[in-house]
Amino acid sequence: MKKLRVGLVGFGFIGPHHLEAIRRTGLAEVVAIATQSTATARAKTASYGVEKSTGDWRTLVADPAIDVIDIATPTHLHAPIALAALAAGKHVIVDKPMALTSAEAKQMLAAARRAGLVHAVTFNIRYNVMLQHARAVIARGKLGEVRLVRGHYLQEWLLKATDFNWRLQPEQAGALGMVADAGAHWYDLAQHLTGRRITRVLADLSTTIKVRRPARGQQTRVQVPDLGLIICEFDNGVRGQFATSALCAGHKNDLTIEVSGSRGSLRWEQERPDELWFGHRDEPNQLLRKDPPLLDPAVRSYATLPGGHAEAWPDAFRNLMRNILAFIAAGRTPRDGDEILFPTFATGLRIAHLVEAIAASAKAGGRWRTVRR
Ligand SMILES: NC(=O)c1ccc[n+]([C@@H]2O[C@H](COP(=O)([O-])OP(=O)(O)OC[C@H]3O[C@@H](n4cnc5c(N)ncnc54)[C@H](O)[C@@H]3O)[C@@H](O)[C@H]2O)c1
Repeated sequence: MKKLRVGLVGFGFIGPHHLEAIRRTGLAEVVAIATQSTATARAKTASYGVEKSTGDWRTLVADPAIDVIDIATPTHLHAPIALAALAAGKHVIVDKPMALTSAEAKQMLAAARRAGLVHAVTFNIRYNVMLQHARAVIARGKLGEVRLVRGHYLQEWLLKATDFNWRLQPEQAGALGMVADAGAHWYDLAQHLTGRRITRVLADLSTTIKVRRPARGQQTRVQVPDLGLIICEFDNGVRGQFATSALCAGHKNDLTIEVSGSRGSLRWEQERPDELWFGHRDEPNQLLRKDPPLLDPAVRSYATLPGGHAEAWPDAFRNLMRNILAFIAAGRTPRDGDEILFPTFATGLRIAHLVEAIAASAKAGGRWRTVRR
């Protein structure tokens, strides 16, 4: 089978992981990379053995030899690049958050549907095999009736007043910074695991370090929150609670999610990706370590190594890219049910609406706000 040809835009932190995940699927090859400058693009393509490079993403969009545009740039560039790519007849993969606003996300979804092309957002974390197992366990009712979804996404990269990057700049990252950026993974996961939508939110957002003094660069008054505390309600009335901040020393990349039901609880921690904790009242708690024969048969294909061989973040990314690229290769067009296979622009738009409801709730001094449909 002929491999799909991907043009990758953005090659900073996450771009190289897109490339590696794509390569590992065997279904596609990255044939060109665009970054902000021609010189960096050239250096990067040489070190990764990619054919073409450019400092102008429009070259990739105009290239008839490219089937898929994969976007891994700061968030403000997602919409313009995606819209241009769709207009040029390319399938689009975009990293999260999908866009700066729900208006942009809506425009992207409409353009993708009109063009009949594949549209995907890389909420990669959910394709960790233990999370797919957790989803199957919940769907089969093994936890009983779900009553509470709780968790956090804590990191430490904003601990000092000298810490700074584009995620603190609303024009590049949107008005909610980490609450929209890292938070998006948790909102996606909470909805994916439970199969339910978050319909209402109550939020308190604050900026603890109000002025930052980057080692290189100017003193800056911070306009986005660095701490978010959110209560949410799912469409079946179940409540959830989520905290996010990058002010938490020692938490390197701590996304944690716990679901409690009438018969038991389960918890997954990103920093221990191979494990799933099960909580019981009438028998000892259990720690399940990844071992394919012990997992739900429907999700075993998300593990590619036997027990005792850790699978983690890059493997989840590969699983997601495999789902997206196999779908494109099969000539399919996304419909609503396909969001289980990979998050689409419809998934991204719902999360953009959720983030806007969080902003509105915080602005109203912490009142419940309904998530637009
Ligand atoms: N899925 C995940 O787990 C995950 C993790 C980290 C970041 N992200 C998301 O990925 C995106 C990129 O984040 P990052 O951490 O890699 O950022 P980064 O700052 O490390 O890299 C950004 C890249 O975009 C390029 N770029 C900037 N302007 C450009 C332009 N005009 N044309 C072409 N390229 C341009 C830069 O040259 C750089 O290569 C963001 O949306 C972020 O939220 C997702």
